[in-house]
Amino acid sequence: MKYNIAVVKGDGIGPEIVNEAMKVLDKIGEKFGHEFVYNEVLAGGCAIDATGMPLPQETVDACLASDSVLLGAVGGPKWDNLPGDKRPEKALLGLRSALGLFANLRPAMMFGELADACPLKKEVIGEGLDILIVRELIGGVYFGERGRRQTENMGEEAYDIMAYSEKEVERIGRVAFEMAKKRNFKVTSVDKANVLETSRLWRSVMHKLKEEYPDVEYNDFLVDNTAMQLVSNPGQFDVIVTENMFGDILSDEASMVTGSIGMLPSASLGEGTRGLYEPIHGSAPDIAGKNMANPLATILSLGMMLRYSFGLMEEAEAVENAVKSVLAKGYRTADIMSDGKTLVGTVEMGELVKKELN
Ligand code: IPM
Ligand code: MN
Repeated sequence: MKYNIAVVKGDGIGPEIVNEAMKVLDKIGEKFGHEFVYNEVLAGGCAIDATGMPLPQETVDACLASDSVLLGAVGGPKWDNLPGDKRPEKALLGLRSALGLFANLRPAMMFGELADACPLKKEVIGEGLDILIVRELIGGVYFGERGRRQTENMGEEAYDIMAYSEKEVERIGRVAFEMAKKRNFKVTSVDKANVLETSRLWRSVMHKLKEEYPDVEYNDFLVDNTAMQLVSNPGQFDVIVTENMFGDILSDEASMVTGSIGMLPSASLGEGTRGLYEPIHGSAPDIAGKNMANPLATILSLGMMLRYSFGLMEEAEAVENAVKSVLAKGYRTADIMSDGKTLVGTVEMGELVKKELN
């Protein structure tokens, strides 16, 4: 089979980590007899530099014409002082929305090999950690009306509106329940229903939906309590489903609990099979170009692409197993380095994973 992949390397460490992922994908193609065709396009800071805009229409069109999108990271200090709609981050938001990618899957799991990197006490972490955060990605306060206005005597005022419709809640809820059925049959829906009207609607839609999934255990958590539970008893969670901004915050927290943000992939999906796959970490401008970045989250994102967009389960497992073998052999990039292990750079790590696929 032939697959067309739009590649957005982006800024900072983006190009380095995506290059390694592409090498691994080529190896998968060779091994399993698929052809992966890349179409490299600009988005983020590099697009601002080249075209004046963070998300050129050409990039959107190329992504829409692709079977799937692989993305490194966007943003950096160079573009930090631009106005909101000209910032590199706008590219990411624009792509998510243009491609209709409402469901963001962020697995936070602890790799046995990296258990020492977990900042929590052993008694707290127990058996380890394997949570899937399902974050709504194209609604809520991220995409609501925003603006500024002058008040009479309180100076200027800014506002960002958070809105959710029943349909938006239902479709993300459904993704969470379906995922739970493939995992440990437990959904925790996170909201702030003691304060927010959007959360009260969210909760009522979830309650209707859970009737369709009697075999899935369901509970409601408030977001503040969830933040606390993630560090006091993370083992209780299986699938967490939540709105856009809560999901943004909780997924960073959950990733830190695993101790290795440089290891965590993500998938953003819509109605069809086209998705956008990216590591959950950022562009790390401080280490860009130094052959120091960890390419594993991007490589694992590829694994998710193979699984969710192309239905290539065996290939996806091959990628995941290759990553695990390399870790088991003691190779580490700087971010996950510990005593007695072998320190390698970005390129070496990519090569090692590729070699496991021989
Ligand atoms: C993320 C990032 C983005 C978000 C930013 C870069 C716009 O933090 O993917 O979690 O807030 O969604
Ligand atoms: Mn984030």
